[in-house]
Amino acid sequence: MKTNQPVTPVNENSALQTLFYEQLQDIYWAEKDLVKNLKKLAGAATSEELKTAFESHRTETEGQVKRLEEVFVAVGEKAKAKKCVAMAGLAEEADELIKDTEKGSMVRDVALIAGAQKVEHYEIASYGTLAALAGILGHKEAQKLLDQTLEEEKKADTVLSGIAEGFVNASALQEEK
Ligand SMILES: [Fe+2]
Repeated sequence: MKTNQPVTPVNENSALQTLFYEQLQDIYWAEKDLVKNLKKLAGAATSEELKTAFESHRTETEGQVKRLEEVFVAVGEKAKAKKCVAMAGLAEEADELIKDTEKGSMVRDVALIAGAQKVEHYEIASYGTLAALAGILGHKEAQKLLDQTLEEEKKADTVLSGIAEGFVNASALQEEK
């Protein structure tokens, strides 16, 4: 979605406002769930670099939960979480990746990065849409906040790619079945 839409006065009763509010509840649930899951991913990672990356994104995610609470205030809605089926599925998939890979192996890290990047891409798509909707609905402050998180998610994704390409993929290549 493009964000350069004309600014229209906020219409609290529009169907689009309802959709926007529901999408906010979805990502609010997803971020809260992710705080727990990033702890699990950090615990399961082999390399110190990946553990640190997961831990620092966990702290960042706690900030994103708070920022979403500011977004709810900015748009005049109550902060509510609604189960995000997609994020729940991605968390389940990450559990399977942990089960299916050997503890202490670099293949484990390759798998965890793959799972975490699916999460980041889901979030990038979600925040891109939310920021665009905030813009079109005339919620300027909310749009700014959502854009801020969008940038953080893109950076988190880049960090994960850097770790994979830096040494994880190459080390995993040396491991036997
Ligand atoms: Fe996030």
